[in-house]
Amino acid sequence: MKLSVIGAGYVGLTTAACLAQIGHEVFCSESDLAKLAKLQNGVMPLFEPHLEDVIKGVRAVGRLRFGSTEEAIAWGDAIFICVGTPPLANGDADLCAIEGVARAIAKRATGYRLIIEKSTVPVQTGAQLRKHLSVHSTNGLRYDVASNPEFLREGTSVEDFLHPDRIVIGADSPRAADLMREIYEPIIKQEFTCPVHSGCPKRKDPVFLATDTNSAELIKHASNSFLAMKISFINMVANLCEVVGADVTKVAEGMGLDPRIGPAFLNPGIGFGGFCFPKDVQAFVRIAEKSGCDFSLLNEVEKINQRRVEHFLDKIRKELWVVRGKKIAVWGLAFKPNTDDIRFAPSIALVKALLDEGAEVNAYDPEAMEKAKPVLPAITYCSNPYEAAEGADAIVIVTEWEEFRQLDWDRLRSAVERPLVLDGRNMLDPTEMTRRGFHYVSVGRFPMTPEQNASTTNPVQSFASAEG
Ligand SMILES: NC(=O)c1ccc[n+]([C@@H]2O[C@H](COP(=O)([O-])OP(=O)(O)OC[C@H]3O[C@@H](n4cnc5c(N)ncnc54)[C@H](O)[C@@H]3O)[C@@H](O)[C@H]2O)c1
Repeated sequence: MKLSVIGAGYVGLTTAACLAQIGHEVFCSESDLAKLAKLQNGVMPLFEPHLEDVIKGVRAVGRLRFGSTEEAIAWGDAIFICVGTPPLANGDADLCAIEGVARAIAKRATGYRLIIEKSTVPVQTGAQLRKHLSVHSTNGLRYDVASNPEFLREGTSVEDFLHPDRIVIGADSPRAADLMREIYEPIIKQEFTCPVHSGCPKRKDPVFLATDTNSAELIKHASNSFLAMKISFINMVANLCEVVGADVTKVAEGMGLDPRIGPAFLNPGIGFGGFCFPKDVQAFVRIAEKSGCDFSLLNEVEKINQRRVEHFLDKIRKELWVVRGKKIAVWGLAFKPNTDDIRFAPSIALVKALLDEGAEVNAYDPEAMEKAKPVLPAITYCSNPYEAAEGADAIVIVTEWEEFRQLDWDRLRSAVERPLVLDGRNMLDPTEMTRRGFHYVSVGRFPMTPEQNASTTNPVQSFASAEG
């Protein structure tokens, strides 16, 4: 099929490349001219594992082209809208970009088009799109609007797109539902050449869930809010573990063994970030408010998350006593590993607070430093974790990049001023770190080692005495 994708960000670029990979002829547009020029010249504007290879492959056989939104509108029988929906100051999703694309389609498209919202949007956006298209259509455009929320995760987006658990579509006409099924047929049947694994193992076929547009839109916001709630829940359990003397890793393991709970998203840490959870929780709360539903449960989820950085800063302050003048190595700036995305990353608030308190920050991230430089200009960017740790009073781990597990800790032990590691992602083993000669502080894992136990007040006693 001839398909168009509007917006070449993390979602749009993956969507365009993967739809071309499964056999469609795809035209992808991008309004940021610098980004577009890069794409047209074969340069990646973002880091995402495997994506560059997929793009190279499908461009070589002429199934993916890049250009303007006008060209994209003229090309596709179906048009995927993948533009950003950032948060406004009041938490609402900013739908300006979506509205702009809808207006351009209404003015330029002719004949029949299936218009697909893949961006994450508030419920009833599909209805608004239909209204808007009717009002502005000048060329006798006939259309359907479908919702097709995207569940890919940055860092594994190609894999997630091609081997999803479910494909959700919201369509209010049989024609739209049939076209959506036709577009995704190779993925539904898992019949395509997988660009990620040669001899790709046969997986369970994804569930194709077809529903109405409103329900599809709600599925996305409800899913992300639920996952965010799981993270905030385990973060509060971690806080409790720190006070009463329990190990959150074991608590999470025990909880996750219950199939009704499951082990995913029960990793405590410095909080969630990125372009999805923080803004989607806010937008979902706003939708509920405007609909007269009291969903204050999600306000708490957000508040708990906002307090994570402060909670972690308290650990740093407690260890360093005076932060001013201290040299701090920050490892990891991306909001999660395997991406260069720093949008709403906890690293930003953490680093800004450390700078405000007078610390000197030497940071290292394998992929995100270019994107971090304009946001955090007052820190030193280092070319590897060892350089960042040189003379440091503390190493602070903010993103759990795999390479931080593979380091030469003897070398680090001699490079630092003080062998102190504060691990905001619980990625290292406390006993191992103590054996390597480091004082190691993580999240919710008290008591951690006999040595650390001995150096701290017995929390069970202090908890008991606090009760009376
Ligand atoms: N990033 C994720 O992991 C993820 C996952 C699922 C869903 N989503 C949702 O998908 C949407 C896109 O997210 P993203 O991370 O890809 O954002 P992004 O900012 O990386 O990409 C959006 C792109 O659209 C471009 N754009 C804006 N207006 C345009 C226009 N008129 N014509 C052409 N291009 C235009 C922007 O320049 C930008 O490059 C959001 O609604 C987001 O919530 C994101």
